[in-house]
Amino acid sequence: MTSTTQAPQSGAGTAHPEHLGHVIFIAAAAAMGGFLFGYDSSVINGAVEAIRDRYDIGSAALAQVIAIALIGCAIGAATAGRIADRIGRIRCMQIAAVLFTISAVGSALPFALWDLAFWRIVGGFAIGMASVIGPAYIAEVAPPAYRGRLGSFQQAAIVVGIAISQLVNWGLLNAAGGDQRGKLMGLEAWQVMLGVMVVPAVLYGLLSLAIPESPRFLLSVGKRERAKEILAEVEGKGTDLDARVAEIEHAMRSEHKSSFKDLLGGGFFFKPIVWVGIGLSVFQQFVGINVAFYYSSTLWQSVGVDPTDSFFYSFTTSIINIVGTVIAMIFVDRIGRRPLALIGSVGMAVGLALEAWAFSYHLVDGKLPSTQGWVALVAAHVFVLFFALSWGVVVWVMLGEMFPNRIRAAALGVAAAAQWVANWAITASFPSLADWNLSGTYVIYTVFAALSIPFVLKFVKETKGKSLEEMG
Ligand code: GLC
Repeated sequence: MTSTTQAPQSGAGTAHPEHLGHVIFIAAAAAMGGFLFGYDSSVINGAVEAIRDRYDIGSAALAQVIAIALIGCAIGAATAGRIADRIGRIRCMQIAAVLFTISAVGSALPFALWDLAFWRIVGGFAIGMASVIGPAYIAEVAPPAYRGRLGSFQQAAIVVGIAISQLVNWGLLNAAGGDQRGKLMGLEAWQVMLGVMVVPAVLYGLLSLAIPESPRFLLSVGKRERAKEILAEVEGKGTDLDARVAEIEHAMRSEHKSSFKDLLGGGFFFKPIVWVGIGLSVFQQFVGINVAFYYSSTLWQSVGVDPTDSFFYSFTTSIINIVGTVIAMIFVDRIGRRPLALIGSVGMAVGLALEAWAFSYHLVDGKLPSTQGWVALVAAHVFVLFFALSWGVVVWVMLGEMFPNRIRAAALGVAAAAQWVANWAITASFPSLADWNLSGTYVIYTVFAALSIPFVLKFVKETKGKSLEEMG
C-alpha cells in the first residue's frame, strides 16, 4: 500500500470549485451508467412471465436465465478495473455503453432461449463494468469536500433507474392490454421492455464523449498538462495545481500499472483494505435488499394485495428508496459515511426483526393476520428507507474513494465482483429459504444487519473530506 504521509499537501479538501455546476454535470453524466445498472437489473421483472410462456420453461430454468445476468455482472466488475487502468476511464464507459446497446437489441430480438441468456450475460457484463467505473471516475474527478454527494449520484441513478423501469414496464403492459405477450409495434410487449434500454444506453455513450478523462488516469500515463487543465476545471483555479499534481504523483510514485498482484498481501490473500471493501459489499447484499425488490409480490400477497396491483406497491417501495437516497445525499458529506452506515444498520436490523416476527405467524390462505400483515408492510418499508439512507449510498461512495490511487480501480473491481456474487447468492437462495421458513430467512438477514455494526466500528475508516491521496 502506498504511504502518503509525507505527500505535499495542497489543502484540496477545502478548495471551493468555481465550476461546481460543471462538476455536477460530469458526475451526473458518469452516473448514467448507474441508471442503466438499475434499469437493466430490474426491467427483466416485467418480462419473466412472457419468457416462461414463450419458451415453455419451468421456474427453475427461468430463475437460471434471470440469475445468469448476475454472473455477467461479476465478470464485468472484475474486469472493468483492469480495462480502466489500461485504456482509461472514459474508454471503459464507452465499451460499457456499446455492450448495453447491443445487449438491449439482442435480448429484445432473441431467436432462442440460449440467445436471450447470452445477451443477458452481455448486458450483465456491462452492468458490472458500469458499477465499477461510475464510482471510481466520480471519486477521481470530485473535489474532496463534495465527493460524497457527487459519488452518491451513482446510487441515485441506480434507484431512479429501478423506478423508471417499473414505470416503463407498467406503461407498456397497459398499452399491450395487460398481457406481457400482447403486441406492440410488431413485437411482444416484453421485447419492447428490453429493447427500450437502447435509449439510455446510447445517451450514456454520447455523454461519455462530453466529459473529460480522470486527471489521475492522465497522470498515470504521463499526460501532465492535460491533467492540470482538468484539475483546474474541477477543483477551481484557486487550487495550487502544481502542488496537487505533485501530491497525486507522490501517491502513485510506484509508477507501474496496478495488477491483481498489488491487491495481495497481509497474510490473508488480499490486503486488509481490499477485505474491508469486500466486507462492505457483502453486508450490503446479505441484509437482503434485493429480496425487497425482486420478490416484493410475496410480501404484497401476504397482506392481501391483489397481485395485479403489485406494480403500484412496488413503485411505492421505489419512491421510498429514492427519498432515502436523497436524505443520504444531504448528509453523506456532513455527518460522514461511518455514522450514516451505523444509523442505517440499526434501522435495518429493527425493520428486518419486525418482519421476522410478523412472518412467524401462520399464513391463512396465503395471508398474515391483519396486525402482523401491517407490521410486515411497514417494517419492510422502514428497512428499505434505512438501507437507502445508508448502505445503498455509502457503499458505492466508499468503494469509489477508499482505496489508494494505485490499486483503486482493481480493488473496486474485486469488491464490486464480490457484491454481484453476494447479490446472486441472496436472490438465488431466497425461494428455497422462504419455502423452508420465511421468518427464519428474515432472522438471517437481521443477523447480518446487526453484524454490520461491529464490522463498521472495527474496520471501516471515515473518508469524509479527505483527498484521495490521503487514503490507504
Ligand atoms: C444498491 C445495491 C443494489 C440494489 C440497490 C437498491 O445499489 O448495490 O444491489 O439493487 O442498491 O436500491
